[in-house]
Amino acid sequence: MTDTPISLEPVPLAHDDWSYVKKRSMDDYEAADWAIWQPQRKVYFEENKVDHILRMLECQKDDPSFIYTTNNYYHCLQTATRMYRANCSEEDVVVGLLHDIGFVACNETHGEFAAALMRPFVSERNHWMLVHHAVFQQFHCHDLDGCDRHARDRWQGHPHFAWTAEFVEKYDQCTLSHDEEILPIAAFVPMVQRVFSKPPNLPY
Ligand SMILES: [Fe+2]
Ligand SMILES: [Fe+2]
Repeated sequence: MTDTPISLEPVPLAHDDWSYVKKRSMDDYEAADWAIWQPQRKVYFEENKVDHILRMLECQKDDPSFIYTTNNYYHCLQTATRMYRANCSEEDVVVGLLHDIGFVACNETHGEFAAALMRPFVSERNHWMLVHHAVFQQFHCHDLDGCDRHARDRWQGHPHFAWTAEFVEKYDQCTLSHDEEILPIAAFVPMVQRVFSKPPNLPY
């Protein structure tokens, strides 16, 4: 039966010299427990955040396509490669690499997904661009039934309109084909590490 309950063993700690707090609820944590929780949690995120992010992207590497001759993984790499070769800033390149990281899992809100992922570590300019890039992409969808090409016009005059339009035109709507040399993801890993190592811009 697939609904047979299973028993679990304790999940190993990330470091041999770390300690468990074997309590079921945070309600039960005492000062001595939090004193362990805080430093171990800090190191855990420092050591695992970027790896998790890259795994979220890399798990899409062998995905099939629904029409393009490339998939979302290679589209993201193509976007980042173009931005790198255009001498965009390191933050912009990383934003390009991750702009569609949630495209398949949450297609309808994937811009907000990427924006939330990167918000503490990127500029307001890039956060706004990520949230709105999908609507701006509609401008490039000619002769598509039901698509309002000018939906982006509601933000005419916004300080980040031009950057969002430029990103979509130069690096997003035009990177849908396999036949363009791209840099491997390894080329971008140090950049991702540096961007996500910045002090988070919190609270917001
Ligand atoms: Fe997108
Ligand atoms: Fe995209």
